[in-house]
Amino acid sequence: MGNSTGEDLGRKTVVFGITGGIAAYKAPLIVRGLTGAGIEVHAVMTDSAREFVTPLTLQTLTGRPVHTDMFSTVLSNAYEVEHIALADRADLFLIAPATANCIAKLAQGIADDLLLCTVLASKAPVLVCPSMNVNMLSNKATQDNLEILRKRGVHILEPAVGELACGWEGAGRLPEPQRIVAEVERLLFQQDLEGVSVLITCGPTCEDIDPVRFITNRSTGRMGSALIEAACLRGARVKVISGPVNIDYAPWAEVVMVRCAHQMFTAVQENLQHADVLIMAAAVADYVPSTYTDAKIKKGDKLSSIALNPSVDILSAIKPMKEDRFFVGFAAETENLADSAKDKMERKGLDMIVANRIGQTGSGFASDTNSGIVLTPEGILDDFEQMDKVTLAHKILDFIRERV
Ligand SMILES: Cc1cc2nc3c(=O)[nH]c(=O)nc-3n(C[C@H](O)[C@H](O)[C@H](O)COP(=O)(O)O)c2cc1C
Repeated sequence: MGNSTGEDLGRKTVVFGITGGIAAYKAPLIVRGLTGAGIEVHAVMTDSAREFVTPLTLQTLTGRPVHTDMFSTVLSNAYEVEHIALADRADLFLIAPATANCIAKLAQGIADDLLLCTVLASKAPVLVCPSMNVNMLSNKATQDNLEILRKRGVHILEPAVGELACGWEGAGRLPEPQRIVAEVERLLFQQDLEGVSVLITCGPTCEDIDPVRFITNRSTGRMGSALIEAACLRGARVKVISGPVNIDYAPWAEVVMVRCAHQMFTAVQENLQHADVLIMAAAVADYVPSTYTDAKIKKGDKLSSIALNPSVDILSAIKPMKEDRFFVGFAAETENLADSAKDKMERKGLDMIVANRIGQTGSGFASDTNSGIVLTPEGILDDFEQMDKVTLAHKILDFIRERV
């Protein structure tokens, strides 16, 4: 994830607390991810953290002095009380890794070092990323302390499961830096889609001919993925129905994987009732093989043609379920973009259609950018050229937000 996410994270400040867990070695990568998203980072380290990673590394990567000493007299403004000044500056407080010790002290409101004092003095949201040995984590003391923090509204990023630095297997690993950065971005985003349920289809479908061959299309799921990430960042509840793709969707979305057009249709039908908005970004096959052969068709079988039938037209089939839901379709066209899109929008009873120009570089399938138009029954809302898919996703969601 980067900073082309529609919201200017460049004006946001994160105070990043690092405590003395072995995973502190990941802190520099977290700083890189945050600054890469345009976020201003101020690092605060506990004494124990400095045993694992040097202030010099973090100072170099944040481009700012690292705060370590509660009673420091070396200040840019000698009359600022350091922990109060930092606490006031924070849009978000991130603590990663958070040791069992730090979590216990936070739960009790103890303020015996600069980091704890600063958290206590701040009104900003706090994201705690626990990381420790599996037994330390499952210990009732730690679990009770985490529960106290959760009840207080502190965000806890669940530790990952896997091989731990101490040699044990289990829960307790610090999640990967990009996962932590993504969580920070989500908490900093304006939650203008909070309370909105969005169902998004994406990717291609694969229509099997025999156990070896299938018919598919060039969709990679990138446009759908951008929409999923953007909607999640903006607070929507997102459910995804995805054809086979080689993509990691945003971690907050609930994903249902399907293979063929018929499975996609069934999954959309089953999930539509909970959705306020349906975005059909999948490239669903128009034609499917009329028969499926259980045994592999052999080279010597003299196959001269494959009979095809039209696939289920999902949008037409679910039209009776539309009610006051907002339906968005996608069209991919090589010519007569506006006319073809308008025709599709009217035939399928859509509230909005995004028509992509395909057959040119920098637009359509397997590209990071798209060009085309956004159309509603009121007319063309936007005619965009080579816009990156993440920015386009936010633009589409802006148009939807104005209408739901
Ligand atoms: C090699 C080593 C690794 C440690 N790793 C962790 C850890 O991953 N998680 C944890 O909670 N404590 C860990 N500890 C214990 C903490 O460093 C210790 O509880 C310390 O008091 C934490 O201080 P702080 O919370 O002020 O940073 C480790 C200690 C050592 C010596």
